[in-house]
Amino acid sequence: MSDKVELKYKNKSYELPVMIGTENDIAMDISRLRAETGLITLDVGYQNTGSTTSSIAYIDGNNGVLRYRGYPIEQLAENATFPETAYLLIYGELPNYEQLANFRRMLTQNALVHEDMLHFFVGIPPMAHPMGILSSMVNALALYDPKYYAEESDSEDFDLMVARLISKVRTIAAFSYKKSIGEPFVYPDAKKSYCSNFLNMMFHSHAKPYDEDPLLEKVLNALLIIHADHEQNCSTSTVRLVGSSKANLYASVCAGINALWGPLHGGANQAAIETLLQIQESGMSIDQVMDRAKDKNDSFKLFGFGHRIYKSYDPRAKVLKNLVAKVFAERNINDPLLDIAYELEQRALNDDYFIERKLYPNVDFYSGILYRAIGIPVNMFTVMFAIGRLPGWIAHWKEMHDDPNFKIGRPRQVYTGLLERSYVPMDERY
Ligand code: SDX
Repeated sequence: MSDKVELKYKNKSYELPVMIGTENDIAMDISRLRAETGLITLDVGYQNTGSTTSSIAYIDGNNGVLRYRGYPIEQLAENATFPETAYLLIYGELPNYEQLANFRRMLTQNALVHEDMLHFFVGIPPMAHPMGILSSMVNALALYDPKYYAEESDSEDFDLMVARLISKVRTIAAFSYKKSIGEPFVYPDAKKSYCSNFLNMMFHSHAKPYDEDPLLEKVLNALLIIHADHEQNCSTSTVRLVGSSKANLYASVCAGINALWGPLHGGANQAAIETLLQIQESGMSIDQVMDRAKDKNDSFKLFGFGHRIYKSYDPRAKVLKNLVAKVFAERNINDPLLDIAYELEQRALNDDYFIERKLYPNVDFYSGILYRAIGIPVNMFTVMFAIGRLPGWIAHWKEMHDDPNFKIGRPRQVYTGLLERSYVPMDERY
């Protein structure tokens, strides 16, 4: 069904095609706008602008729906593993037994980083932020991959890059943690699953052996799954834009890592916990917190609340809130930050300022509470987000490169600077 939009400008009338998505999301296709009308659009922050079509994730922000390739995230978080979900996002279908076995074998075979890369860790300052380490090391991975350049890579090379990235980011993250606490690196174990391997590399040491923990492994799978994709968010759009110049997959993912680091985006999980810690340590009352969160002149922000797309409860926050309750009950954990989080949520959901602006808890509000329960340090929370989001970044990079109408991304602007003027020699300047 084709629909049209009529545009009237300076006594002329134009028709623009309307595109209707499979979930009936509608878009005015402005691909010919400038050629036909001389007009461009202006949309700061791309709040109303679609950059692409995509079949990877679907979000219904008003009804709190998120699906990966049609599967609700609640079902994937409950039943799937992270490698299975990564395969689904990147290749489009849930893997059969043989495909999953092959994918897992490739992840196992590519878990190590080149021994020469360990020298990079020596030069990194002890308190370096793990997101800075991760982005540096991911960029360095390309230097050890002769076939990294997208132009020459065929599907086998792509599959190998996928396995290398998804497996090695886990190793790099664990090594950066060991480096920060001055302990020797624990190498990946070919006999362990993706999540169990990560937990072992993080928490095993000769002084304190790590015993596999099926509950934490299930929690980590769910955490990584619900972070795995989220359509055209800031970091995924960054990966697409960098990849659109035909920069290689490692460089594009590295750009995504750096975009995710920001506290308005993936860095919000670290900022949210730091806010809860600040409330706990300062003795700030919830009334004071709410007042400061609403005060435009106060830089204090309630991280983990609000979302560009979700104008209802973020379905991922629901999954995480339920997971927190389950794990805390099973392990008899008592974390005062959780009590603060519950109280904050209750107050915000009943506060006119938050209700009017449709501000609800987002994925970053409860994730930090869970990471703390697992023993992940606060400054690694966004690294965990990056490990989870990596399959989504790769899936979007692949979808863009597989598109026969693929184009380099190059937005326009409205110039508001000075009109032409002549050069002023130094002695005539004041
Ligand atoms: C992620 O895009 C994605 O999909 C991202 C993500 C993903 O999976 O990739 O979901 C992950 O980034 C989640 C969001 C994490 N960020 C935070 O929790 C930071 C706190 N939230 C805000 O900074 C904000 O809500 C954003 C950045 C998330 C969304 O910003 P928008 O859509 O540009 O909305 P806005 O900043 O214009 O806010 C609208 C109003 C404003 O008030 P008014 O000017 O209308 O009076 O809501 C207010 C804002 O001041 N507001 C908040 C608030 N968030 C928005 N007020 C207090 N506390 C907050 N947290």
